[in-house]
Amino acid sequence: MNNLLLEVENGVALLTINRPKSLNALNSETLAEINSCLMDLEKNEDVKVVILTGSGEKSFVAGADISEMVNATAAEGRVMGLLAREAFSRFENMPQVTIAAVNGFALGGGCEIAMSCDIRVASENAKFAQPECGLGILPGFGGTQRLARLVNKGRAKEMIFTCDMISADEACRIGLVNHVVPQAELIDYCKAMAGRIMKNAPLGIALAKQAINTGYDADLDTGLKLEANLFGLSFATADKKEGMTAFLEKRKEKNFIGK
Ligand code: HXC
Repeated sequence: MNNLLLEVENGVALLTINRPKSLNALNSETLAEINSCLMDLEKNEDVKVVILTGSGEKSFVAGADISEMVNATAAEGRVMGLLAREAFSRFENMPQVTIAAVNGFALGGGCEIAMSCDIRVASENAKFAQPECGLGILPGFGGTQRLARLVNKGRAKEMIFTCDMISADEACRIGLVNHVVPQAELIDYCKAMAGRIMKNAPLGIALAKQAINTGYDADLDTGLKLEANLFGLSFATADKKEGMTAFLEKRKEKNFIGK
């Protein structure tokens, strides 16, 4: 991998986009690497949480790579959009929990990749924007869809039409990020959250993630039916037996095996 760093330790994969000279802008090669790295991680049962961040202290991801896009044709732009779609959907739908540790600029494709993660934590210096309309394009890595769903339609339109940059605190206020922490504490904060997540049953989490994601875009009745089915499925797991037995035996430690 030319553009990514990957460290796997104690069930947590820390994936760092590493193109500091261009503030971690996403070119096609980086998108393809993210896609293939996530294909491996989603099959890795030792990994329970993926934390995504950017290298350096200034930028998470400053967007798609403008130097690559400037001469791209309509067909090439579409291919780039589809490549990002495949990679970003993996963050959204993989069985593991994904956390974006937003350590600086999250602009355009940077805000969009963060939005495809389950949870977003920002450092105090982080800044968010969808500047695409100022470049003559529109958010093409999911921004017009995920931002409206995550915050609301009016706020999404304001951010996209004005291209205004908002602070981490403002992003937190509107629900774009869950927490804002000092930059020096960002990765430890995300790892501590990963630790709390990993105390729980991985299959229960994966099924809950599936129910939330699928139900969110469906009507309530469809979502509730899906939830009932997945809830039933969870009763077939060894972890359900272990979780409930540990409670009844008043045991604090649970031996979840992800089966
Ligand atoms: C390519 C980029 C880049 C990007 C920064 N760089 N962002 N290169 N694509 N998105 C490069 C700069 O050209 C520069 O390279 C180096 O990184 C440092 O950036 P500076 O601009 O010198 O830093 P600074 O003045 O501190 O400004 C930081 C910044 C600014 C505010 C983040 O760089 C900026 O506005 N970047 C573009 C942000 C943007 O518009 N993103 C959306 C892209 S469109 P050199 O070689 O000069 O040192 C997008 C679309 C997604 O994401 C969907 C597409 C289908």
